Amino acid sequence: SRNIRLAVIPGDGIGTEVVAEGLKVLEAVGTKIDATHYDLGAARYHRTGETLPDAVLEELRGYDAILLGAVGDPSVPPGVLERDLLLKIRFAFDHYVNLRPVKLFPGVETPLADTPVENIDMIVVREGTEGLYAGTGGVMRRGTPYEIATQESLNTAHGVERVVRYAFEKARSRPRKKLTLVHKTNVLTYAGDLWQRTVDRVAEEYSDVTTDYSHIDAASMFFVSQPERFDVVVTDNLFGDIITDLGAAIAGGIGLAASGNINPEGTAPSMFEPVHGSAPDIAGQGKADPTATILSVAMMLDHLGLSAEAAKVEQAVADDIVERLTGWSSRTTREIGDDITERVSS
Ligand code: NAD
Ligand code: IPM
Ligand code: MN
Repeated sequence: SRNIRLAVIPGDGIGTEVVAEGLKVLEAVGTKIDATHYDLGAARYHRTGETLPDAVLEELRGYDAILLGAVGDPSVPPGVLERDLLLKIRFAFDHYVNLRPVKLFPGVETPLADTPVENIDMIVVREGTEGLYAGTGGVMRRGTPYEIATQESLNTAHGVERVVRYAFEKARSRPRKKLTLVHKTNVLTYAGDLWQRTVDRVAEEYSDVTTDYSHIDAASMFFVSQPERFDVVVTDNLFGDIITDLGAAIAGGIGLAASGNINPEGTAPSMFEPVHGSAPDIAGQGKADPTATILSVAMMLDHLGLSAEAAKVEQAVADDIVERLTGWSSRTTREIGDDITERVSS
């Protein structure tokens, strides 16, 4: 079989550090990869004023997958790199499914007291192309006491239905077959109504899947007090963003949380990245945990049909995590990457 063509965007801050480890593991698992690095992020922006030139975006379209570290830097105004680089890719490549597993690995310390590992095993299906991320709205009388800023949530029947259908399929494939819609239908009556009606209608085709509903505020509480309530969660872009950082926290920390921005029809490459950001507070110090990126590489392998390789990487991470019980915190980014690489190669 031909080599996998992979575009790599290390990005900013710890992005470059964790991606290096992800690539090491990828190489060790024995997959034939042609990786091309793209210099995008704060440095490029300062040098040239460019975030993501259209020609580069079109070039990215030709790859089998994209691996991204993180973007965002304190020296760049908030939103420039996030919107014009990261979100631009998610939107242009129709990454309408942002898949974010929340799974407690044996041996990982969770802040939730007395929680058996099997109680935290869910997958959040976050919508990736609409909602409050659409960028519509505007500002009037900026800088005056009469300033009015609006930011609209865009929800289309097509956009909601496709992600809801994906979530039902995901729920059907899991032992518990449960789907929870998380929204705020009691306040966001237009958008919430569309989401709820869509779930109700599609549910008729999935009689084997149990569905329920939780408001986002209550869901945040249940993530901490009763995480076993959740199997597959489907939610909009912003709620999904917030609740997956919470999910990361209950499952052992943001350094372990992986994600995939999926284009299920394969009309453009899917993009895999850790849930975390560029972490300017620890960048350049070798303190970042590369595990989230390595698990994102496993998700990528799975997406590319290399399920045996994906399982191998996941197992190597699981085994490494068990050993962390005995003093892992002293390891650097590179040491963690090396240890997992060694397990994958043996
Ligand atoms: P962050 O995820 O970068 O950091 C939050 C906290 O978690 C920090 O204390 C950080 O040190 C810690 N942390 C994050 N990843 C870690 C890891 N792998 N190992 C150990 N500790 C880790 O979020 P933030 O501080 O809110 O954002 C920083 C920048 O990153 C901002 O510019 C933001 O826009 C951007 N961001 C980018 C992405 C992305 O590219 N997908 C995601 C989130 C935030
Ligand atoms: C994430 C990040 C991004 C998001 C930002 C950086 C645009 O927080 O991947 O979770 O909000 O989706
Ligand atoms: Mn986020």
